[in-house]
Amino acid sequence: MAPPSDSIGSDSPVDPSIVPPGTAVLPASPEDILEILLGHGLIDQDEAKQLKSPLNEKQTTDASRLIRTVVKLEGITKNQARRVFRDLASLREQKIPGYILLDKLGKGAGGTVYKAKQISMNREVAIKLLHGRLARNPDYLQRFVKEAHVAARCSHNNIVQAIDVGSAGGHHFFVMELIKGQTIAEMLQGPKKIFGEKEATEIILQIAHALDHAARRGLVHRDIKPSNIMLTSEGVAKLADLGLAREATDQEAIERERGLTIGTPYYIAPEQIRGKDDVDTRADIYSLGATFYHMVTGQPPFQGGNVHEVLEKHMKEALVPPDHLNPKLSSGVGEVIEIMMAKNPKARYQKPEDLIIDLECLLNNEPPKLARQRIKAADLDSLAEGESYSEHGEGPSEMPGWVIPSLAGLGGALILSLLANLLLALKGRG
Ligand SMILES: Nc1ncnc2c1ncn2[C@@H]1O[C@H](COP(=O)(O)OP(=O)(O)O)[C@@H](O)[C@H]1O
Ligand SMILES: [Mg+2]
Repeated sequence: MAPPSDSIGSDSPVDPSIVPPGTAVLPASPEDILEILLGHGLIDQDEAKQLKSPLNEKQTTDASRLIRTVVKLEGITKNQARRVFRDLASLREQKIPGYILLDKLGKGAGGTVYKAKQISMNREVAIKLLHGRLARNPDYLQRFVKEAHVAARCSHNNIVQAIDVGSAGGHHFFVMELIKGQTIAEMLQGPKKIFGEKEATEIILQIAHALDHAARRGLVHRDIKPSNIMLTSEGVAKLADLGLAREATDQEAIERERGLTIGTPYYIAPEQIRGKDDVDTRADIYSLGATFYHMVTGQPPFQGGNVHEVLEKHMKEALVPPDHLNPKLSSGVGEVIEIMMAKNPKARYQKPEDLIIDLECLLNNEPPKLARQRIKAADLDSLAEGESYSEHGEGPSEMPGWVIPSLAGLGGALILSLLANLLLALKGRG
């Protein structure tokens, strides 16, 4: 057993016994670490082979954590570990030419995000380094570069600006504007937990403008969720990860999420769950609706014991109207969310600009014009008899968007919620 001074047992992300104080967190792949250990003669080829899978199992690109694993398994000393880290640091500087990686900002399903310095412009940026699994998938990489190019054509105050995309030293990276602020996900986990209706509506309106800008350029985000919306200290909402392709098909990502339970898909649209590869901006409207729901009620719209249950509910279960969870909400906000989250894309706002109209109504203390129109025109009797959005298609209606409300359109969720509201009102009177 290693002597106590050499043992590195803490599980903090940055290990002070390996990382010299003031040194940035360093990203590295297991291959990088093994390469340096071999180079220093600290391990031989057989040991390198044996170390490969325990290092991969860590599923991290944090060099200090990877080196700590080697320390535990191979008993290299603290000093040797520090040397490996230092070498890695100088190696890394050459690896993403033009950028110096600084602190780690966070980690998601697709990659790890670092604060970095763009040397040429002398400014700080954020860089996402793709996880190895994605970087090894050629189909994904092709889409990654293509979508990044489209994202680069977007320029909007509510969209995190895409700056650069590329690969170097076996790493694929996406450079973007650095946002100083918090994600909505972080705020929902903090003491706040729930947003006031007006504040939430203002944030959702800003993101609706971002979606409008993206949709006009043919871009679908496909991963709208609280952790992809950042709020600056000035109250500007920024949509992150636009142009960061999801994996080849959503179905593929979902299967993987099922297996590995990486992040529960609380905000995904039913048609994405079904693996439709032609999802459009209406899927983003659904996910933004689910985000809105979480912000004003303090909980995601559908919950369950496992990923599968949550997915089933997105597809089949009626939404509990948000004002049933938070009685302080206006009826208007509930109506807007229900239209955003209709199971059938045809029953949703068809374009972000329609959503913007209703959000502006809410902020002016007026009833949401388009949602009301839709609800008023709906004949409850015929709706109840109508076919709801099924797994096999988009329902019977091909009628166009706003002018003629589609029967299939309004779908089970809304009917049930209207009936539930009615029952509650009657109960209240009795
Ligand atoms: N442009 C950015 N500027 C600052 N921080 C960012 C930026 N993009 C992402 N982050 C931070 O990195 C974290 C991880 O991002 P990401 O890998 O996209 O994961 P996810 O979106 O799944 O949470 C985010 O939750 C956020 O805190
Ligand atoms: Mg993100």
